[in-house]
Amino acid sequence: MCGIFAYLNYLTPKSRLEVLDLLVTGLKRLEYRGYDSTGVAIDSPDSKNIVMVKRTGKVKVLEDAIKEHFSGGEYSEPVMTHIGIAHTRWATHGVPCERNSHPHRSDEGNGFVVVHNGIITNYNDVKTFLAKRGYEFESDTDTEVFAKLVHHLWKTHPTYSFRELVEQAILQVEGAFAIAVKSKHFPGECVASRRSSPLLVAIKTKSRLATDHIPILYGKDTDSGKPQEIRPHGQTRELPVLPRSDSTSEFMPEEKEVEYFFASDASAVIEHTNRVIYLEDDDVAAVRDGTLSIHRLKKSLDDPHAREITTLKMEIQQIMKGNYDYFMQKEIFEQPDSVVNTMRGRVRFDGNAIVLGGIKDYIPEIKRCRRLMLIGCGTSYHSAVATRQLLEELTELPVIVELASDFLDRNTPIFRDDVCFFISQSGETADTLMALRYCKQRGALIVGITNTVGSSICRESHCGVHINAGPEIGVASTKAYTSQFISLVMFALVMSEDRLSLQQRRLEILQALSNLADQIRKVLKLDSKVQELAKDLYQHKSLLIMGRGYNFATCLEGALKVKELTYMHSEGIMAGELKHGPLALVDDSMPVLMIVLRDPVYVKCMNALQQVTSRKGCPVIICEEGDEETKAFSSRHLEIPRTVDCLQGILTVIPMQLLSYHIAVLRGCDVDCPRNLAKSVTVE
Ligand code: F6R
Repeated sequence: MCGIFAYLNYLTPKSRLEVLDLLVTGLKRLEYRGYDSTGVAIDSPDSKNIVMVKRTGKVKVLEDAIKEHFSGGEYSEPVMTHIGIAHTRWATHGVPCERNSHPHRSDEGNGFVVVHNGIITNYNDVKTFLAKRGYEFESDTDTEVFAKLVHHLWKTHPTYSFRELVEQAILQVEGAFAIAVKSKHFPGECVASRRSSPLLVAIKTKSRLATDHIPILYGKDTDSGKPQEIRPHGQTRELPVLPRSDSTSEFMPEEKEVEYFFASDASAVIEHTNRVIYLEDDDVAAVRDGTLSIHRLKKSLDDPHAREITTLKMEIQQIMKGNYDYFMQKEIFEQPDSVVNTMRGRVRFDGNAIVLGGIKDYIPEIKRCRRLMLIGCGTSYHSAVATRQLLEELTELPVIVELASDFLDRNTPIFRDDVCFFISQSGETADTLMALRYCKQRGALIVGITNTVGSSICRESHCGVHINAGPEIGVASTKAYTSQFISLVMFALVMSEDRLSLQQRRLEILQALSNLADQIRKVLKLDSKVQELAKDLYQHKSLLIMGRGYNFATCLEGALKVKELTYMHSEGIMAGELKHGPLALVDDSMPVLMIVLRDPVYVKCMNALQQVTSRKGCPVIICEEGDEETKAFSSRHLEIPRTVDCLQGILTVIPMQLLSYHIAVLRGCDVDCPRNLAKSVTVE
């Protein structure tokens, strides 16, 4: 989804070219989120105007355009204070083109320029309101109305501060957004805010910060002007005047020189600083004279007094490709380490004990619940499908697995004694977040399973497990899936700790977990064999992936990977359903992949295999090492090490990740940024 990156240097001299360089690097770090056009805005050399450059396509195209546009020596002059804003756009309203790219401007004079992530749902009402007041629109976007609304407020409320203008504009818009605004009328200032879309502020100073929090200001700054509300069809209504702010405390670093970054996620700032503040919904962060303030218009009883300054644990190497060609490839090969990191400090193999610090206090409550609900989208949903059977077995509770979007469409009944798990790599997926809020309002206990510290799902959960897979940059989720899988397995083990009858089973699983990293390494050695298979398959139109039991989730996940990366049709088929329809697809030309392991459903899988081969199907088989009987059914097979049934899905999914990766490379697809997709889906 769209990416925001803004940079402000205060008393730290930087030329405009250096600022542009920083902006472009920031955008490069956000590329993985998915986008189709880009843009930047900086001050003109005389600081009296704002210059914008926008391009359709990759950040590289923008970078080249910037080199061409800003070649004059005047852009090399250092400036003490400057603000630049930049954006990667993932089209929602209006096709990808320069006209629709951000930043968007308020007027021909570029008085206010805005970058935005999310969707302003009432933009038509705001547009009508502004059109009636003479504003003309130059793009098809929802964002442009925000820039023009700020301009309108500036004209009608000349005493408002920059922050107040943005605050008043935010009061009028509905939907999800993160925004950063720059203005030639307020040089040296930047204002940013968020609602349901992620945004953080990062702070860079020469010495350590003397504080680990920043106080929040509540209320209005001045008594000037009566706020209005824009109603449907551009009608207006006056709003009650809010109380004046009672505090003047702000964040001012010890030394005056400071740099601020506003970004959609931490990977864009980590090379500059590790000190960040994750903004909450409706926070308005403003920098003026080098001072950062975080402001909210209204205060409710449980609102905190301050926002914490978090120290990021991430390392710059984690977001670089290293020796790999693609992030996805790197992330597939990181899995022997990422699964260990998920278990680190939690599983004690010597004492057979598991402690999940983030939920341990809630375990008694969870044990008393009516049912467990696992909710997510895409790959995260598949991790729930993969672990459902084990959760049912070890918790003896009903386990319901839901796609977040469908769950919301159905207005699913939720009870106070439900425990709802929200599984999300990014922690920002709009459907999952909406489903979380829906369940929270109905009194359920909310457990977050996320990979992103500080994400919305993380913050809004009552408790949770951080999967610790490390940053995942490739749009296709790989290592997050195996870490989500293990997190849910660990949860099942915790829930069965005091069940005598389950001890043998638990020991078997713990033993298998301790061998997992080595077994993954072994599976990864199949890489060149998988690449050969990919050469057989990449020119086909379709691939059917069949399995059942613990491996059905691998079929779904494998098919999703093939679809999203290679643009080939692929379907994950429950082998038990073959006779009920899909068998009609099978003939000697249809590519089929079957997962047949020596687990409780082996005989049934063999049955399916026979049905396929007797229709002249020639499947690729994923089977256990040395299983000659199964291998005899096809000349093409991938052998994986034996593990306990409930963890097989981790070993069977890796060949599928590799296969989709190699097919994508052979088909010339953009592996890390598949077309039309975004890493963090922050709109519904
Ligand atoms: C597929 C993929 C997506 C995500 C889905 C949910 O490879 O990455 O299907 O799994 O968009 O995203 P998160 O896990 O961030 O909620």
